[in-house]
Amino acid sequence: MREEVAANLKLWDGWTDIHMTGEFYDVEGFVADPTSRPFDWVTRGVLGDVTGKRLLHLQSHIGIDTLGLALAGAVNVMGVDFSPRAVAAAQSIARRLNLPVQFVQADVTDLPDTVPEAAFDIVFTSHGTIMWLPELEGWARMIASRLAPGGVFHIIDAHPFLALFDDSCEEPPLKVGYPYFSREPLYFQEHGSYADRTADFVADSYFWQHTLSEIVGALLGAGLRIQQLSEYPVVAWKVLEFMEQDDDGLWRMPPGTGDIPLMFSLSASRP
Ligand SMILES: C[S@@+](CC[C@H](N)C(=O)[O-])C[C@H]1O[C@@H](n2cnc3c(N)ncnc32)[C@H](O)[C@@H]1O
Repeated sequence: MREEVAANLKLWDGWTDIHMTGEFYDVEGFVADPTSRPFDWVTRGVLGDVTGKRLLHLQSHIGIDTLGLALAGAVNVMGVDFSPRAVAAAQSIARRLNLPVQFVQADVTDLPDTVPEAAFDIVFTSHGTIMWLPELEGWARMIASRLAPGGVFHIIDAHPFLALFDDSCEEPPLKVGYPYFSREPLYFQEHGSYADRTADFVADSYFWQHTLSEIVGALLGAGLRIQQLSEYPVVAWKVLEFMEQDDDGLWRMPPGTGDIPLMFSLSASRP
């Protein structure tokens, strides 16, 4: 495993412990009432009806969305995450809800045989995913190999253009802080977690910028056909300090601060 990915793994193991108890994921609330965390309108629109669909969820973290998809009617649901602590946490929540969802610990760019090939109608990943991956060719190959013929991959994530802007700015105007085309990882020292900035935790993190053409190119290169590509003026988490949350739970730029794409979705099918 490359050094930066190993550092990220340590980070995610640590963050998992914070996320299991904090308000952000509200695990106890979810276990008490799994309908308390409905999917946002973009996710619902992109995924459509998942009833009866065999579903693989990549980078499943503590499994809240994975379990939500099983509750929405998906079958043979499997979540994959490289963090052993996240997988253990997801398994414990699945047990408490008595849901037959399998969680596998693996790097999404190198899936093991326990994630069967050509076995899924839907492969899904969302909200904070490919920024953790150094390259997308292996990722796309894994996705294509796990889709059944006619199956569809969906990704919903922060727009690569948004990743250019300095997220340490507390106020407008937008300031370009990061490169678009660089393949080198960006290094940060994380204090607390995105879910709880006050948590007593410090760790290194490495992000990779992936351009829109790199994402599309990797999926086309793996033999998938692009079905749709959409851009949105909303994003699922507060990427910039001065974003405002709407009634739909998604975050927007305040009026006059920049009419820029904040999120994208892409669906690609296996012929
Ligand atoms: C922000 S979370 C994704 C949110 C998730 N979709 C959810 O339902 O909550 C990112 C996840 O990616 C995982 N991750 C990061 N790099 C990975 C890799 N190379 N392979 C597998 N999982 C990875 C982390 O452990 C973490 O759980």
